[in-house]
Amino acid sequence: MKFLPIVTFAVALCVAASAAQARPLEAVRQDGTLRIATEGHYAPFNFFQGKQLTGFEVEIAELVAQKMGLKPEWKTLSFDALLTGLQQDRWDVAIASHAITAERAKAVTFAAPHYCSGGTIVSMAPKLRRASDLAGKVVAVQTGTTYAAEVQRLPGVRAVKNFPSDTDARSALVSKRVDAMVTDRFIAKELLRKSPQAGFHMGEMVTVERIAAAMALGNTGLADAWSQALQAVMADGSYAKVAQKYFQEDIRCPAGR
Ligand code: ARG
Repeated sequence: MKFLPIVTFAVALCVAASAAQARPLEAVRQDGTLRIATEGHYAPFNFFQGKQLTGFEVEIAELVAQKMGLKPEWKTLSFDALLTGLQQDRWDVAIASHAITAERAKAVTFAAPHYCSGGTIVSMAPKLRRASDLAGKVVAVQTGTTYAAEVQRLPGVRAVKNFPSDTDARSALVSKRVDAMVTDRFIAKELLRKSPQAGFHMGEMVTVERIAAAMALGNTGLADAWSQALQAVMADGSYAKVAQKYFQEDIRCPAGR
């Protein structure tokens, strides 16, 4: 009986460790709910309409969950918290327009991409079109995004200003606190379409991205099941319908990408 406290301690440690481990597909299936995290401030991909979370990615994720036979349970958090929560088993999936990058792939497992896009320059000055035009300029980006990393690498940029959300970066642009911003190409297109008089100009793309949902590193069972369900959603016409609704075009990655 002398060893009991040690054994108990060891068991407690194991429980603590497994509690922090991502749920594999079987556990998710048994539970019946898929815990999905997103940001909620990245229209038209994920945003709030009043109190209702909606958007292209939210609708696609709900279709995917439905195909998997699971009930989605949403959580919204700041963008830079989304990937870390996966490893801590705070949610099963993060979907918030994350580009697949080598850096991120060291920390999470990506599913198949649900759209292809890129970071695009937006400014109030028609002359700011190319990446080289950003030399000497102050550029706004959202913290933790691929755009933040990419603009940092551009030669000659005077300053990169980080904002907690994409909409904050846009406010800085509108109030002329920055010269330009980099955001998703489809967000930029929507911006110009919805506010043609606001004076926004769209420049060239500075990143090319495949956007995918993320699971905890190594949770390939869940990632594969998600990818298969996504494939089915793309095949049965429901993906195209949601894409038309938000973008008036299909935004899936071209074959082979
Ligand atoms: N595509 C960019 C990235 O991968 C931006 C994503 C921003 N997403 C968001 N929900 N704010 O970093």
